[in-house]
Amino acid sequence: MTTDEWWRTAVIYQVYPRSFQDSDGDGIGDLRGVTQRLPQLEQLGVDAVWLSPFMRSPQRDAGYDVADYMDVDPIFGTMGDFDALVGKAHELGLKVIVDMVPNHTSSDHEWFREALASRPGSAARERYIFRDGKGPHGEAPPNNWQSVFGGPMWDRVLDDGKPGQWYLHIFDSSQPDLNWENPWVHERFRDILRFWLDRGADGFRVDVAHGLVKQAGLPDYTPPEDGASMGGNEATEPYWGQPGVHEIWREWRDVLDEYDGDRALCAEAWVSPLERMAQWVRPGEFDQAFNFEYMFAAWTARDQRRIIDESLAAFQGVGAPSTWVLSNHDVIRHATRLGLPAALPQGEGIGPKSPFQPDVALGFRRARAATALMLALPGSAYLYQGEELGLPEVIDIPDEARQDPTWQRTKGKRYGRDGCRVPIPWEADAPAYGFSTSGRAWLPQPPDWARFARDRQEGVPGSTLELYKAALRLRRRKRLASGSVKWLNEWSRSRTVLAFRNRGVLVVTNLGRRPMSLPDGRLLLETESTHIGRNGKRMLPPDATVWLQATR
Ligand code: NOJ
Repeated sequence: MTTDEWWRTAVIYQVYPRSFQDSDGDGIGDLRGVTQRLPQLEQLGVDAVWLSPFMRSPQRDAGYDVADYMDVDPIFGTMGDFDALVGKAHELGLKVIVDMVPNHTSSDHEWFREALASRPGSAARERYIFRDGKGPHGEAPPNNWQSVFGGPMWDRVLDDGKPGQWYLHIFDSSQPDLNWENPWVHERFRDILRFWLDRGADGFRVDVAHGLVKQAGLPDYTPPEDGASMGGNEATEPYWGQPGVHEIWREWRDVLDEYDGDRALCAEAWVSPLERMAQWVRPGEFDQAFNFEYMFAAWTARDQRRIIDESLAAFQGVGAPSTWVLSNHDVIRHATRLGLPAALPQGEGIGPKSPFQPDVALGFRRARAATALMLALPGSAYLYQGEELGLPEVIDIPDEARQDPTWQRTKGKRYGRDGCRVPIPWEADAPAYGFSTSGRAWLPQPPDWARFARDRQEGVPGSTLELYKAALRLRRRKRLASGSVKWLNEWSRSRTVLAFRNRGVLVVTNLGRRPMSLPDGRLLLETESTHIGRNGKRMLPPDATVWLQATR
């Protein structure tokens, strides 16, 4: 095993293509738009881009419902556009990670259409999870499982024009689960992986990597009331984290190893605790796994420190780097989440009628402090488009404009994820803030977003964009990603301060309510203005992080 693979220390920027840059004016971002903006990502200082799904899809779950794994959806462009994107990215020294969705296809996929048109027990049906229903006429679903987006995990189909078998879908009814007990499915995906690797993809982010194998017999299961929708609370969930999934990942690893250049595999697997998570990144399986425990760690010194320590220990225990992530396209943006008085259940989203609303200014300060802390940690970090602009969650999207199936399926009880998916602002004075040439945007952008536009922040000292750039530059220069965390003894029992040293950089975060005096050291980075106090010491305000060059 080598330890110099690029992904061990990489900062990977998530592009959500629908909302990044629209080059043809239809109000939906596209691959050409991404290519146009790549130089700005290179200037930001990231190492790789991960593209959320852009494959052919009816877009009922924003592309996480794939109808053809080997083609680009026309709303995003063509295969030629993908090739051009990869070419440009590589020219700029950026890697490209493709999102792969193997748990389910779209119900529009030709495999599923064939399954519907075929008889129960046929080879075409065996590609998915079809079962007879319960009750004298098979009128009740095969078990009691409830789907992530709301409603039963089963839908009934017509056989010979009459109500017949049921098929399983962990997510929406338009996302039937594939049957990973079937070697045919394994073979298809090996081909699909090779298709993208041949075209220059540097790796894959694998969707719902903990969901592919279901417990034999599909036993009834009722999750705990406070259970997270994507799992991760216990080892007994019959459709999350089954031991059999690991065989699939070893097979995928072998495919990636056929290629040169450290192609990377990253798992989206909502499992806990972290030692269990680490099983996904054992040698011969994934290289990385998203660290969701870190994402949801409470903003207290105790919790942050505990999760950082546990992450480093769990991942290092299997020879993998820890990853760090604060935002993505499924969760409330951290600039808003960290300003909420209490945690909302995962996948819930936030809207005008949510039981609690954020303290916007507090969330913003904490987000900057949290990011500066994260980027000083060893390992690989994921950024989600727009967080470098300090974007908050959009809370007041009009009901009729909401698109997330969670909102539709729960009849408005859960707002879902639209608030973090609003197209991002590039130019303060352009239509749609420069997102789209026509001024259209598939989700409405707030009227006060000019202040977040990239061109308003470029070169402005103290702006969030400049903070991210400076942190990424220093992180690279000081080689923090391959360093280690040494907690400072004098602060190790503090309930309000996190302080560690990584390769001669002192990182201090004040999670308390009062300014604190800092140790000596040259100021490298600050998320809020520090000042020299009456005691002659530099003072760090609350909810702020500083990086200092250690003097000894
Ligand atoms: C996880 C993805 O991140 C999410 O956006 C999607 O809805 C589900 N998987 C289903 O594919």
